[in-house]
Amino acid sequence: GVASACALSLGGCTGVQSVLDPAGADAEVLATLFWVLLSGAVVLWLLLNGAFFYVTRMRVRPHSRKIGEAVIIGAGIAFPTVLLAILLSYGLSIMPDQRAPGDGLTVRVTGEQWWWRVEYLPQDGGGPVVSANELRLPVGARTEIKLTAAKVIHSFWVPNLGGKMDMFPGRETRMALEPTRTGVFRGQCAEFCGTSHALMAFPVVVLPPEEFEAWLAKEREDAAAPADAAAERGREVFLAEGCGACHAVRGTPAKGAVGPDLTHVGGRRTIGAGTLPATAEGFGQWLARTDHIKPDVRMPTYRALPEQDLIDLATYLKGLR
Ligand code: CUA
Repeated sequence: GVASACALSLGGCTGVQSVLDPAGADAEVLATLFWVLLSGAVVLWLLLNGAFFYVTRMRVRPHSRKIGEAVIIGAGIAFPTVLLAILLSYGLSIMPDQRAPGDGLTVRVTGEQWWWRVEYLPQDGGGPVVSANELRLPVGARTEIKLTAAKVIHSFWVPNLGGKMDMFPGRETRMALEPTRTGVFRGQCAEFCGTSHALMAFPVVVLPPEEFEAWLAKEREDAAAPADAAAERGREVFLAEGCGACHAVRGTPAKGAVGPDLTHVGGRRTIGAGTLPATAEGFGQWLARTDHIKPDVRMPTYRALPEQDLIDLATYLKGLR
């Protein structure tokens, strides 16, 4: 029982969504702070309990009473005060400044219910590159993240990379992320924002700088033309069903901005903000069971469509990359 409880609690220490497995400059500081504070707390706990046992088990005689008082004042008051003061000033001194400016790219992330609008704002003055539900970052650079929200408060948190920052409607907060190694990490909304709050996640893909630049240049382009007859039929279904009223696919008449931009949705790792894999099956499931997969989502479900239409639509979406 105890062993499995330990295994369970330690299971969260490694992996793609853990503050204790840092892959970012700020996250490394926070992980160090955690271990130092934990060690300090363990020392304090042992000393206080040691003092408690010593005092309660002593046979109270006139001269041992004095020793008891010394133990209580020393180990119970003086030592904790000094130790906690040291830990506090240490913590304050190494705390990263989450608002420190970035040194290159800026990304604006908007919290929607329940997905992430992502806009890359390159330095070269080009227009924003619009994406959704996935964040890509170059390793070794400090990227500024500008945060806001559409209707309710959300919170942006990628535990492996850095601290957590709230996102407010009508207000901009900011933070910076400085990944120290490549990999895929998981971000999650950390502020209760309605029914599907728990289903508001996003992968963060950290790439070598040149790969990131190549990806961003590709992401800026219009959507690929349908590759085969099935995808072409899917494109017709997409436009006929009015999907373009909510979603944009650049290079097509679909220009909606209510829902996620789908221009390169087939190249993302997940759909539905981290809920399903971005595979043809994933798209099919999402279209047929939207309301089951993500309760209260604004997107209607398309289970009434003929099955072949759904399959073609899924083929078309998977081909958008
Ligand atoms: Cu968005 Cu919780």
